[in-house]
Amino acid sequence: MNATSTLPCHIAIVMDGNGRWARLRNQPRSFGHRAGKKAMRETVEGCLRQGIGTLTLFAFSSENWQRPESEVRALMALFMNALDKEVDALHEQSVRLRFIGDLEAFSKSLQCRMHEVATHTAKNKKLNLNLAVSYGGRWVISQAARRAAADVVRGELKIEDIDEVALGCRMNLSDLPPPDLLIRTGGEHRISNFLLWQMAYTELHFTDTLWPDFDRHCLQKAVDDYGRRERRYGRIGSQTTRRQQDSA
Ligand code: IPE
Ligand code: IPE
Ligand code: MG
Repeated sequence: MNATSTLPCHIAIVMDGNGRWARLRNQPRSFGHRAGKKAMRETVEGCLRQGIGTLTLFAFSSENWQRPESEVRALMALFMNALDKEVDALHEQSVRLRFIGDLEAFSKSLQCRMHEVATHTAKNKKLNLNLAVSYGGRWVISQAARRAAADVVRGELKIEDIDEVALGCRMNLSDLPPPDLLIRTGGEHRISNFLLWQMAYTELHFTDTLWPDFDRHCLQKAVDDYGRRERRYGRIGSQTTRRQQDSA
């Protein structure tokens, strides 16, 4: 098999295990979240090097608001700090940053900063980097249903035209291909309300590596694992040559 044809176009990652990584070092959980920044940088660089077009990182779920207030506060401070410190380097590398999730749940200053960063990097072409924050897959689907209902009320959409395409195009990232590969670090084998709609046919790769230890070798291992998968999309093996899969 040709190596380039087996490269995922879109990788999504559940960056899990920061708290346990810190606990193993007798440190507070926030220490693990800070350490996770290096893994993010390595992963972005790995994707840029390999020519992977889209990377979607799960940074904070809609359920993570229920964590102790001190941890949420530390995460927000880290997030703001990362937006200030990392964006110039990302922009120079032609990375386009977008934020997906219930952004209104954040402070006005964070909302403003996210908006500025997304606008500032909007024309960059090398890598789409999507940060899922205050993100819940069910929330996204219910928002799309709400938008479709509003369009019906306005007379812009017929009920009989509500289908997968009509709902899908009312969600963020509808201009991007769905994830080919989901990586979850930290040893848990679950989706935790990540891209539920978009992951219908995503290949799943679970690793015990805790997120702060994730590096370009781990990324390569996941990409190689993906390259060995046969994506059948409901068909049978003999129907699914790589060429057919790529056009599916
Ligand atoms: C993932 O690491 C980061 C966030 C959810 C913000 P965790 O904080 O969930 O780390 P563990 O799973 O407790 O080790
Ligand atoms: C998923 O990790 C969310 C992020 C990595 C941002 P969690 O640690 O919140 O997931 P659960 O609670 O183990 O399912
Ligand atoms: Mg966790």
